[in-house]
Parts: sequence; structure tokens; C-alpha cells
Amino acid sequence: MTKKIAVLPGDGIGPEIVAQAVKVLEVLKADGMAIEMAEGAIGGAGYDTAGDPLPAATLELAKSSDAVLLGAVGGPQYDKLERPLRPERGLLRIRKELNLFANLRPALLYPELADSSSLKPEVVSGLDIMIVRELTGDVYFGEPRGIEVRPGVDGKPERVGFNTMLYSESEVRRVARVAFDIAMKRGKRLCSVEKANVLECSELWREVVLEVAKEYPEVEVSHMYVDNAAMQLVKWPKQFDVIVTGNIFGDILSDQASMLSGSIGMLPSASLDENNKGMYEPIHGSAPDIAGQDKANPLATILSVAMMMRYTFGDEASAQRIETAVKAVLAKGIRTVDIWTEGCEKVSCSGMGDAVVAAMKA
Ligand code: IPM
Ligand code: MG
Repeated sequence: MTKKIAVLPGDGIGPEIVAQAVKVLEVLKADGMAIEMAEGAIGGAGYDTAGDPLPAATLELAKSSDAVLLGAVGGPQYDKLERPLRPERGLLRIRKELNLFANLRPALLYPELADSSSLKPEVVSGLDIMIVRELTGDVYFGEPRGIEVRPGVDGKPERVGFNTMLYSESEVRRVARVAFDIAMKRGKRLCSVEKANVLECSELWREVVLEVAKEYPEVEVSHMYVDNAAMQLVKWPKQFDVIVTGNIFGDILSDQASMLSGSIGMLPSASLDENNKGMYEPIHGSAPDIAGQDKANPLATILSVAMMMRYTFGDEASAQRIETAVKAVLAKGIRTVDIWTEGCEKVSCSGMGDAVVAAMKA
């Protein structure tokens, strides 16, 4: 069956990095995989072309595809737009519309990059964590939300901003199951991260995770408050196998975990629905400061294609082919500027894409 892939480059470095990932898909296609790609605008690009960060045509395209490849969204030129028109809203809406509640963010250290991490090599070498972040709930989507005028501490009217942290038990249950399933295929250890000492929302989260744990007697479950988890992640990250957490905590912890691996430019992600339909994107942003300069690191996006092969298409061989090619390129000392160290060969974004393509064909 033809694999239908929606390609949404987005803003900033999005188009350059996505172009490299498309080269990788073209290799698979040339080797016989039936792939059909179609492009759509999202984020600032959606606003510029259709006045909407998630144009109806893009949503339609995404809905009718098996998988979505996304670059990044956002840029300073859009920061003054009304909230619903901002690029980030396009990203949040597509996640919600496609019901992509399980966000898989692996933090993996490639041995060649041990020196690029700001942590000591012995702390990060061999690091292999999978963060499962809930992606369609929490304070990101909870109602009520807003900014309004209310009586302040001194009784005088002033503006207050508010959001609602909210999880239903079914939302927790379904993401917990995804995390337990992944733990079963890995080291069988799952750490659930919340703030149950303060938040009712987290208290419920913990209770539901404990209920789901009964279905997975082989998995060793632990619970950690998010502040402690942030500390443990830099103190001794290798204690973690799989982490499951809510939307906002996962947003923060996954950026932190990315740095353990040397560069945020290395980490892919998968956002999945109940049926493994998925959207695949690097975890980094649109990096407007280097956009259009052909120097961004496309590896996170290329590795997102590997995740697409693995999770949506169940094609482990193609996933490994891409991952092996990336490892070979790193072993050769080929580096974009963000991961470059003395003695390595510095390449551009497109140079890196070409190197991965060459390694796939080798
Ligand atoms: C991420 C990003 C997004 C998020 C932003 C761009 C809305 O930081 O994917 O981690 O907060 O989820
Ligand atoms: Mg983030």
C-alpha cells in the first residue's frame, strides 16, 4: 500500500531541515518503497499564505495522510499577532485535531558526541531515555483560560492571567498504556513524573498510573516529583529508562534531556494517536537566527523519518537503515556547526543531508 506522507516544512529552518529528510524519503522511494508526498503550509507559513496557522487545506491533507513530517514553526515576525493566529497555535491545533496524545521523545547519546554534551562524558555516555509526554491535555488545553481584570490583592482591579491544569483519568490511562508498552520493549522500568505533593491533577495522574501498572506486572514503576526529576536528569540521567509525564512537565524535561545528548539538533520525536498514525518532528524550534543560512542540523528531522518508519509503518528495517546511516556519518567525523568539535569536518545542513544519503546507499 502506498504510504501517504504530508510534508509540512513550517518556518525558520523548517524548510531546510525538512528538505534533507525528504532526500532520505526519496532514497527509500527509489529503492522501491511506495511513497506519496504532498506539501502543506503550517505555522507562520500558513498565516502568510492563508491567514491561518493551520489552513483548512493543510488539516485536510494531514487527516488524509498516514503520517505527517513537520519541520518547525514560529518566528519573531509573528509574535505580535493575536494568539489564535500565532504559529504555535497551528502546531497545538494539529496535535489536537489529529488526537496525537502520545509524544515520544527519545534522548539518546551517540558515543561520538559525548564531548558535545555540557555534562561529563561518564555521566552521559550510554544514555538512552525515552520520554513519553502527554500531548493533547494539561494546562496547554485546559479551560477556563484567559487574561481578565479581577480584584487584585489590595482589592483594586488588575489583570490576572490563568490556565487550568486538567487531566481526565482516560487521558492519563491511554498515555500510561503507551508508556508501559514501550517500557516492556525496553528496560521494563517506568518513572511517572508529576507534582502530586501539591497538585490534585497530579494526584489523580499518580492513582491512574498505579491502576494501569497492575496490567504490567513485569514493569518496575517509580514516581518522581517533577522538580526532583529535573535534578536527577542532570545528576545521574542513566537511572531512567522510560519517563511518562504530562504535557507541560514533558515540554520542559524533554528540552533538558536533549542537552544531555549534546545538541537539541539531534533529537527526533513522534506524536501518535490510538492507531499509530503519527506526526514526526524534531524537538527543536524554528531557530530564526540561523534560518536560510544552510547551517542547521537536519539530523533530528532525518531521525524523525526513522521513527516514522518504525512507529507508523512498522518498518524496523528502514528505521534502522536511516539510524545506521546517521551513526556512520557521525563516526566519519562529519558535523554541522552545533555538534562540531576540533578535528571534525564541518558541513552545511544540505551537506549533512547528502552525507546521510550517501551512507544509506553505501
Ligand atoms: C515543543 C514546543 C511546543 C510545545 C511549542 C512550540 C508550542 O516547545 O514541541 O516542545 O510547547 O509543545
Ligand atoms: Mg518544547
